[in-house]
Amino acid sequence: MTHSSIKEQLPSSHPHPASGQNLRDWQLALRVFAAPADTNLDGDIFGGWLLAQADIAAVSIAAARAQGRVATVAINAFQFQAPIRIGDLVDLYARIDRTGKTSITIDVSAWARRASKPEAIREVATGKLVFVALDDDGRARPLPVLPESCAEMESQQRHLSLSRN
Ligand SMILES: CC(C)(COP(=O)(O)OP(=O)(O)OC[C@H]1O[C@@H](n2cnc3c(N)ncnc32)[C@H](O)[C@@H]1OP(=O)(O)O)[C@@H](O)C(=O)NCCC(=O)NCCS
Repeated sequence: MTHSSIKEQLPSSHPHPASGQNLRDWQLALRVFAAPADTNLDGDIFGGWLLAQADIAAVSIAAARAQGRVATVAINAFQFQAPIRIGDLVDLYARIDRTGKTSITIDVSAWARRASKPEAIREVATGKLVFVALDDDGRARPLPVLPESCAEMESQQRHLSLSRN
């Protein structure tokens, strides 16, 4: 499914990261079904399962920015806002919040589309994960310098992100 088809099904006031204004900095990083194997003894989806999906989604964005190996160094925030049920289709959006010398902080936003009611889609969790670019020996390495146009875009995204918080 494309961003635009998701967008068409959302109320215009919905703060979905795939809605128009945020399309530039959020990326659909992972789409996954919640399966019976992901449940606890009570039949609820494990929080740890979603945390793992968020890590996978965020690492794809961090590794692209680092142009190589990265490691998760911190999960500085993670909030579960609504339960996920078996069969839900979970979209994980990610964006770069900030970069440092060796670190990349990634915002993640998870949205679930109910199996029983595909038009019902809602944000189920948000998180902030920090990655460090690693060299071949597993030590922190400086992030590659971006071409000027990309650096300008990154700075604008940081500005947008700060003004939203
Ligand atoms: C990643 C690792 C190599 C960094 O080691 P280090 O060189 O001592 O790290 P530093 O203290 O210099 O920090 C590196 C960067 O991470 C940032 N950082 C470290 N801990 C952080 C935290 N808790 N929150 C936010 N940023 C953090 C630092 O600010 C620094 O950023 P900058 O270079 O952009 O300024 C080391 O911590 C490590 O191997 N950790 C285990 C990673 C791992 O296995 N992850 C998977 C866990 S299952």
